[in-house]
Amino acid sequence: PPPGPLTAPPMGWNSWNRFGCNIDENLIRSTADALVSTGLRDAGYRYVNIDDCWMAGTRDAQGRLQPHPTRFPGGIKALADYVHARGLKLGIYESAGTATCQGLPGSLDHETIDAQTFAAWEVDYLKYDNCNHQNRPDADRYRAMGEALRATGRAIVYSICNWGLAEPWLFAPTVGGVVWRTTDDINDSWASMASILDQQAGLEPFARKGFYNDPDMLEVGNGGMTQAEYTTHFSLWALLSSPLLLGNDLRSVSASTLSIVKNADVIAVNQDWGGSQGRRVADFGETEVWAKPMSDGSVAVVLLNRTGAAATVATTAAALGIGGSSQYTLKDLWSKATTTSTGSVSATVPSHGVAMYRVTRAGTLAAAPASGTLQVSDLT
Ligand code: GLA
Repeated sequence: PPPGPLTAPPMGWNSWNRFGCNIDENLIRSTADALVSTGLRDAGYRYVNIDDCWMAGTRDAQGRLQPHPTRFPGGIKALADYVHARGLKLGIYESAGTATCQGLPGSLDHETIDAQTFAAWEVDYLKYDNCNHQNRPDADRYRAMGEALRATGRAIVYSICNWGLAEPWLFAPTVGGVVWRTTDDINDSWASMASILDQQAGLEPFARKGFYNDPDMLEVGNGGMTQAEYTTHFSLWALLSSPLLLGNDLRSVSASTLSIVKNADVIAVNQDWGGSQGRRVADFGETEVWAKPMSDGSVAVVLLNRTGAAATVATTAAALGIGGSSQYTLKDLWSKATTTSTGSVSATVPSHGVAMYRVTRAGTLAAAPASGTLQVSDLT
């Protein structure tokens, strides 16, 4: 595929998880203000994405999409101006079907005029859903919008929302997509989050710098999970090089939620590209080790405990692919404590929680065996 507009997974906010169809332009403006006042914008969260239900029920006399007359009376261009003035970007939503998932006018067979409308409004991101697809081929429908967006000349992040597509990771990058949903919708529960996590294992070959698997938007702060569970959700989505799209109410965001989503060390793991997204490297049943190589040669690791009680989860630097050093530095990305280790990476992890480290070689390479004792096995 040609290079896309992303250099790292997109970060921002989307209206759907918390608000569904209960959205209006005041919410979008006050969310933009909150991104600035909470420091989230400066932590990297730039996209303000309006999901389904922004539209009027009919197109205008020229066939153009129209914003909902009472909930978005000022129009989308004014909102784009508002968020751009605050150093943010605006996202919008449509579906590659005859209607959106909420029954509003879809873009199928209207791709050119809709892409032109979004570009004229100075939209920066399109989430393109799959409802009401009329059984027309996936790649054709998504390519039509990808080409229409490209023809506008505006850099618009093209997010493909799978919702039932077969293997979107195979075709999405060939039709202009730079992120693609890998599962059905997340909800604000441990069971949903854990099930989506399970479905990511094995998808790591399809992500590369600028093109990312999307395990769906964040639920952190929406109230259905514990602080430990939200910490797990955020740590793993970061490690998976997922888009980090907040899905909570930022106008009343708590300090405890901000302490998760503003963690700069965890965000840095998400935004870095060392050759692969995170992957599951060990599965001990209900405890697991996930790891992502970093571009500086270190490895980010998440020790996960799915059980109902605290448990020890352990791995080694060698198992993480950075053996051969006599000493390692382990930075705990949640407590911020730094420790040294000769190779063991181990923690007592709370129920439904994680420990997350960045493991860096700190010693000299292990001493060579004394002359005359070299074994063939030492060479592998
Ligand atoms: C689908 C998508 C969701 C959301 C809704 C809106 O379910 O997967 O993320 O966009 O549609 O109707």
